[in-house]
Amino acid sequence: MKKIIIALITLAFTSTSSIAAPKIEVLHWWTSGGEAAALKVLKDDFAANGGEWLDMPVTGGGGDAANVALKARIVAGDPPSASQIKGPTIQEYDQEGVVAPYNIDEVAKSEGWDNLLDPMIAAIHKCENNSGPYCAAPVNIHRIDWMWANKAVFDANGISVPTTWDELNAAAEKLQAAGIIPFAHGGQAWQDATVFEAVAMGLGGNNYYKNCYVDLKENCLRSETTVKVFDQMRKLQGFTDEGSPGRDWNVATGMVIEGKAGFQIMGDWAKGEFTAAGKVPGVDYYCAATPSNNGYLYNVDSFIFYKSSDPDKQAGQKLLAKLMMGKNFQKVFNLYKGSIPARLDVSMDEFDKCAKTSNADIKTAGAKGGLVPSFAHGMAQGNTMKAALQDIITEHFNSDMSSVDAANALADSVLANM
Ligand code: GAL
Repeated sequence: MKKIIIALITLAFTSTSSIAAPKIEVLHWWTSGGEAAALKVLKDDFAANGGEWLDMPVTGGGGDAANVALKARIVAGDPPSASQIKGPTIQEYDQEGVVAPYNIDEVAKSEGWDNLLDPMIAAIHKCENNSGPYCAAPVNIHRIDWMWANKAVFDANGISVPTTWDELNAAAEKLQAAGIIPFAHGGQAWQDATVFEAVAMGLGGNNYYKNCYVDLKENCLRSETTVKVFDQMRKLQGFTDEGSPGRDWNVATGMVIEGKAGFQIMGDWAKGEFTAAGKVPGVDYYCAATPSNNGYLYNVDSFIFYKSSDPDKQAGQKLLAKLMMGKNFQKVFNLYKGSIPARLDVSMDEFDKCAKTSNADIKTAGAKGGLVPSFAHGMAQGNTMKAALQDIITEHFNSDMSSVDAANALADSVLANM
């Protein structure tokens, strides 16, 4: 009898130890206060489900540095188990043969992702040219074309939220005359491009944006409208302070939070910083879409999963994919992150007025032809073309290049990278 009990105990231990223990290494660029608070929700969920999380943060907003680090890991044949990746780049990595759809699609099928996501968002996350198995999971929808303004600064200077670019310029001039930094900006290439695309969609219109930055039409890029967009960028540059070049985006957000500057133009991850600082929209700050004709520049944060023969990592990938698309997770995470849930069935009741505006505007934009992918955040183009556009935008912003020269350089840069 004693022997049988010992044998049973041994068997129990052997089989337990052969069950995969979920492990994951995640490469990401969420290192600001708001971003880290949002990511913690996922890390905590993962740990609560018995998973072991190995963190691989790469500092630098917008992901340019993270993408370089990721590429190096992939080239070295040592990809992480999961990483942040956007839009068309998901397909690029799939074509390189490093993406692992096998177990993610299983999760997607059993959780019914096709019924939980808008078909356009779902397709972004399917490998084999957007129509095969799921190989990535979306966690949110960020909007790019936002203005974040310090309410006390605006009120004290008799400024109301601008509804046209002329009004925005007039507001900035008023602040400047009062000795206040109007425009809090971090002069980094991706931040310049973030502002540029909001200006392009707003001043040029939705069709101009699509022709130039989605379809990359040469005559659009060289057009008078592009010249006007660069003119507006030059005006905005005049509203920044001397410390702008190289500044991180969250430091710029901090200037608005503290009332050292009037406003910032940035995606709604900036709201994550206001939230982390305990600030309330409508009370401490204004969130308003930058002027446009029912436009909405969307940016979806996704994670992809790389091939691995390690059963623990495969189990980790499955668990992470399941958690990321969880209903409660998509609510709590996005409350911190500033974005809105990718899942369609999450109630917006607990979200603030900025998120509710975003959720309403994305539907209006969809109905009126204004829903457009952000190129600055890798939703419209892959990394190479994104860089081709971004390089010229930042060169213009940080020099005295004329608007006409910039428009032509933009077209040349795109053609050279086609
Ligand atoms: C974006 C990303 C956001 C936020 C931002 C700043 O590309 O989609 O989630 O992290 O960069 O780092």
